[in-house]
Amino acid sequence: MRRILTGDRPTGRLHIGHYFGSLQTRLKMQEDPNNEPYILIADVQALTDNFNNPEKVRKNVREVAIDYLSVGIDPNKTTIYIQSMVPETAELTVFYSNLVTIARLQRNPTVKTEIAQKKEIFGESVTYGFLGYPVSQAADITAFEGELVPVGEDQEPLIEQCREIVRKFNSIYGEVLVEPKAVLSTTKRIKGLDGNDKMGKSLGNAIYLADSEEEILKKVMSAVTDPNRIKKDDLGNPDVCMVSYYHKLFSPQMEVDEVCKECREGKRGCVACKKQLAKNISDTLKPIREKRKYYEEHLEEVDKILEEGTKKARKTARETMKKVKKAMKLDYFENEE
Ligand code: TRP
Repeated sequence: MRRILTGDRPTGRLHIGHYFGSLQTRLKMQEDPNNEPYILIADVQALTDNFNNPEKVRKNVREVAIDYLSVGIDPNKTTIYIQSMVPETAELTVFYSNLVTIARLQRNPTVKTEIAQKKEIFGESVTYGFLGYPVSQAADITAFEGELVPVGEDQEPLIEQCREIVRKFNSIYGEVLVEPKAVLSTTKRIKGLDGNDKMGKSLGNAIYLADSEEEILKKVMSAVTDPNRIKKDDLGNPDVCMVSYYHKLFSPQMEVDEVCKECREGKRGCVACKKQLAKNISDTLKPIREKRKYYEEHLEEVDKILEEGTKKARKTARETMKKVKKAMKLDYFENEE
């Protein structure tokens, strides 16, 4: 069996960018009987830059879990667990912290970019916890002897850092840890409604999986269109229009061809075009919304799934921990439970 590990920080609901990126990869991976996938809800990592807002992190643990279940992550095939409830990963983080220099963490491109973006939280001096989150992410992965880590491009330096920690550990304490490989998402990153390269909560340009029909319509109405097209009969350029960009993702090819042609000829107005898009997005997300509604009404089921998943995850992490402690000569009371 191939262990696969990936996860998200619970800082907000998941959006259609996640859906076309990581979620579809995960759905495919859980169908391969050779795979043993784990998804962690990284609440401890979320706290590294939200330590002053624990309520937000707690609330989103459940929201993200419901998002997973609503898109079809199947708890019988994928183990979903809460990071903080597997304390072995925190213990491993401490052990690994001896194997990483501060300079190396400061050079990590992902961490560097994030620190620059989070000036209002960290000011001029970043916390030890945030600087060190790649170490804790290495613990997440190796606690499960994860071989494959499906992630977006931005996470690649974190996986590389994990590989270095593994090599260092194994060279000092013996061949215990498994060196993981990143599996980069093949689907392209979805742009925001405003044309920004990235869709995100903080950018306010995202359509969430949980959005209602009305919310979707309202957001699509605000999408950026060809700035040179002012009146309906101006000839439009769909290549610079976010509405056509989303039509290509959500509408049947025939419809795409038709709206683009009519736009270029100045025959279709943006409002009609947007309404049609909103309907197609809404129809695509409808089954997800319906499943979400079910889980919102059966929260005890969601909690049960998280509890069971966490129990299973912890068992796996404990087995790794035993090997690690033995290798590090920290196995003092052999028979102690
Ligand atoms: N850093 C990831 C993110 O921000 C979340 C994460 C935590 C993760 N631990 C992980 C991803 C382990 C893959 C493997 O989305």
